[in-house]
Amino acid sequence: MASDIAREAGEFARTMRLSGVDIAGQKSSSVDIVTKADQATERLIRERIAALRPHDAIFGEEGATTSGTSGLTWVVDPIDGTVNYLYGIPAWGVSIAVVEGEPDPATWTTLAGAVANASTGELFSAARGRGATCNDRVLAVSSTTDLSTSLVSTGFAYSAEVRAHQGTMMRTILPRIRDIRRIGACSLDLCDLADGRVDAYFEQTLSPWDHAAGALIAREAGAIITGFPGENESRALLVAAAPGIHAALLSLIVEAGAGQLPGL
Ligand code: IPD
Ligand code: CA
Ligand code: CA
Repeated sequence: MASDIAREAGEFARTMRLSGVDIAGQKSSSVDIVTKADQATERLIRERIAALRPHDAIFGEEGATTSGTSGLTWVVDPIDGTVNYLYGIPAWGVSIAVVEGEPDPATWTTLAGAVANASTGELFSAARGRGATCNDRVLAVSSTTDLSTSLVSTGFAYSAEVRAHQGTMMRTILPRIRDIRRIGACSLDLCDLADGRVDAYFEQTLSPWDHAAGALIAREAGAIITGFPGENESRALLVAAAPGIHAALLSLIVEAGAGQLPGL
């Protein structure tokens, strides 16, 4: 069900994009915008979920949380990679997951997830314990064990103060890896990891809807995902990597000053 809705919503947003983009407003800062397509796509997703699963809760980026009675919550990012969508860069995804428990990534159990990249026609999906696929092709993370030759994806927050610190962290991290990629969509970064297109991905200050579906897809493809040492992933930190490099990358990120990020 998550896959069908993600595919339909991706096609809906792609079609809307053909006639241009309307900015609906600013969010946390002048570089954090929401388009009319973000809002309309989330409305479509909410309508589909409410019709098919009326007793489930919905926790989405662009609307108020609706409560449910089933214990299941749908976690929705209607357009992940809004800046790419705005500029016409074909790297934005519709991300939909269903989780059990409180809608908090530190404690929830993700049961299923789907990420649709309507620009490429790729549909990534996973069900807990049943592996991850892209258009029916089974996904597996890379087998690398060497951080110095690993390609690492990351992202930066919308806050200027946080970005300044993230820039200083790069001074430590960049010389110790193959290179950095900043694709601009957390959900697709995690799907790229699942498919071995990057060896790792990390980011700080993420919201739950950014990574709910992608984290299940990457885990089911063999990735290790944590937060700071001994912690689950959360807003403070998400480090997702092929098993052979996760420990080394996490310790490099801590050495680079992740714990000193403003506002943690
Ligand atoms: C953003 C993207 C971006 C990441 C930001 C997210 P949005 O989501 O996933 O890659 O760096 O942290 O907020 O705003 O495009 O839905
Ligand atoms: Ca997002
Ligand atoms: Ca979004």
